[in-house]
Amino acid sequence: MPQSFSAPKGVPDYVPPRSRDFLHVRRQLAQPAEDAGYQYIELPVFEDVNLFARGVGESSDVVSKEMYTFTDRADRPLALRPEGTAGVMRAVVEHHLERGALPVKLWYAGPFFRAERPQKGRYRQLQQVGVEAIGSDDPALDAEVIALADEGYRSLGLTGFQLLLNSLGCATCRPGYRSKLLAFLQNLDLDEETLQRAQANPLRVLDDKRTEVKAQLGGAPMMVDHLCEACQTHYDMVREYLRAAKVSWTETPNLVRGLDYYTKTAFEFTHPLLGAQSGIGGGGRYDGLMAQLGGPEMTGIGFGLGTDRTLLACEAEGLPLAPAQLVSVYGIPLGATAKQSLVSLAADLRRKQISVDLAFDGRALKGAMKAAVRTGARFVVISGDEDEAQGVFQVKDLATGVQVAVPRVEVSAHIAAALSAGAPASRSADPDSDHPSFASTGDLP
Ligand code: HAM
Repeated sequence: MPQSFSAPKGVPDYVPPRSRDFLHVRRQLAQPAEDAGYQYIELPVFEDVNLFARGVGESSDVVSKEMYTFTDRADRPLALRPEGTAGVMRAVVEHHLERGALPVKLWYAGPFFRAERPQKGRYRQLQQVGVEAIGSDDPALDAEVIALADEGYRSLGLTGFQLLLNSLGCATCRPGYRSKLLAFLQNLDLDEETLQRAQANPLRVLDDKRTEVKAQLGGAPMMVDHLCEACQTHYDMVREYLRAAKVSWTETPNLVRGLDYYTKTAFEFTHPLLGAQSGIGGGGRYDGLMAQLGGPEMTGIGFGLGTDRTLLACEAEGLPLAPAQLVSVYGIPLGATAKQSLVSLAADLRRKQISVDLAFDGRALKGAMKAAVRTGARFVVISGDEDEAQGVFQVKDLATGVQVAVPRVEVSAHIAAALSAGAPASRSADPDSDHPSFASTGDLP
């Protein structure tokens, strides 16, 4: 027996019917960005490993422990992208987009790769929808980015999520705060590894999930209490604009984020029904990132929304997702000549953007009708020898049960008109019911 294969550990497949929900979630998360003038950017899934080391930061777990790195045949050091922001910065600078109108507003979607310990909602190939708005320090842009994420979740019907908000300061105020925090942490009862993490980036310890660490962090100094005037004003304005956009949030002074490039505004969306992996999206501002990657001094703000986890959140809330209908029309040929007519009709309808599926392999009427109902089609178009002879198709409206013989030349217009008029009060379509009322003028098998 030849070996059979499974997907690599920690990598989800999305197969029908759930794949339709996945696509629906991705579309809904991206739509608010499109509606706000963000343009699509498609980037490679692997890049120079140093782009991530320098961009995302050596002190982050994502770079230090979780990157999939490899060398190509010419020994170039590469990595599968663990996140999208560094790649977007690289592409903006490489293609000089920052020399055009500012802010440069971009959105992207696709897979990212992190060698994390797999569990529910934590994958090694994860999917995100992201935006980056580059070249403006306007706090209204921070509020816009956050509001786009909020709107994406809401448009799916999600209600149970929370927005956590913080400011992480800037190159002026963070160093002083960092020293204060480090001094505080050094007086705690922490293990060697945690103390080392504190040396590399003391803020990260604030995010420690272990109860014995959390218990000692009660009196820790918080960045929001040590912001410079510019950061304080920026943060105040972001909150004013969020109020104007009717977005509510929870102040979260210990929110740190797992990547090193953040400055000023930082945020996360969480969903309590997801358990340990509750982060459904996050982002923030990154003042020094572009310069650090060899570009001009230019600031930016963006987010990455977890498509996988957003789908899990929708399922946890029991939301209906993608519409159940696969196609509008289902064609059932009963004979070789009828098959040619229906292949031709299907092509005509598809050219008119009316979706059609057909019964293949000479399927008998009863089974084909069940298949038609399973697709959620509004119309079944059937043709037997007698219909062919008379130049008609039998068109049955599954919403009303009414069946009519329509001349072949008129059928496409007949269906288009009925579909644009919308469905009448519907009769439930049960895939297991018989459809004895389907009468063809021809001899049915
Ligand atoms: P991040 O917080 O690392 O940010 O990831 C964003 C989202 O991706 C998370 O909130 C989560 O929903 C999802 N995610 C992350 N890791 C996994 C995983 N292992 N399995 C499933 N989902 C996951 C970033 O990546 C930044 N680039 C976001 C950003 C854009 N900041 C500014 N611009």
